[in-house]
Amino acid sequence: MEIRIATEKDTNAILQLDDEGGFKERLIKKYICPIDPSKVERKLILLAVEDLEIVGKIELIIGTRGDSEKIGYLRRLIVLPNHRKKGIARALIEKTMSICKEDRVIALDLHVVEDNESAIALYKKMGFRIRHKEIHMRKQFH
Ligand SMILES: CC(C)(COP(=O)(O)OP(=O)(O)OC[C@H]1O[C@@H](n2cnc3c(N)ncnc32)[C@H](O)[C@@H]1OP(=O)(O)O)[C@@H](O)C(=O)NCCC(=O)NCCS
Repeated sequence: MEIRIATEKDTNAILQLDDEGGFKERLIKKYICPIDPSKVERKLILLAVEDLEIVGKIELIIGTRGDSEKIGYLRRLIVLPNHRKKGIARALIEKTMSICKEDRVIALDLHVVEDNESAIALYKKMGFRIRHKEIHMRKQFH
């Protein structure tokens, strides 16, 4: 299995994975720009490829806090159902961690819903610890 950074050619595969994960639609182009170190925020999408098939994805956003402290944020992790439990999510997270280390990121954050037991087990195994729990509130108009 290979982990690589997504390019514009991967847009359709990324949209399909987003759909599989129930993630909201967005403009992919923003995430596939060349890395510009002068930018405050760096965004990249990593793909897991097995036998030429894109089977998993994770997204990493690196932002700068205060003067120079960099914090990473992980989101939209998804592995196709028939490829789960083979270490693909672990490999994707490990790759984001090595990118963070190279980029002198001091911590990596993520959010996960409380009933997503498989994702929580995975994150705990990878060394993530719960900082606090949030309550998501919404006032619905329509
Ligand atoms: C969560 C998810 C990404 C895990 O992907 P995966 O490739 O199957 O995970 P891995 O094979 O790398 O698992 C690594 C570790 O995670 C944990 N884990 C993964 N799936 C698990 C499950 N169904 N139940 C319990 N623990 C699980 C285990 O600790 C596992 O380690 P082990 O193999 O030594 O037991 C995958 O189930 C998925 O795509 N779910 C739907 C999307 C989603 O919930 N994304 C997260 C949004 S926050």
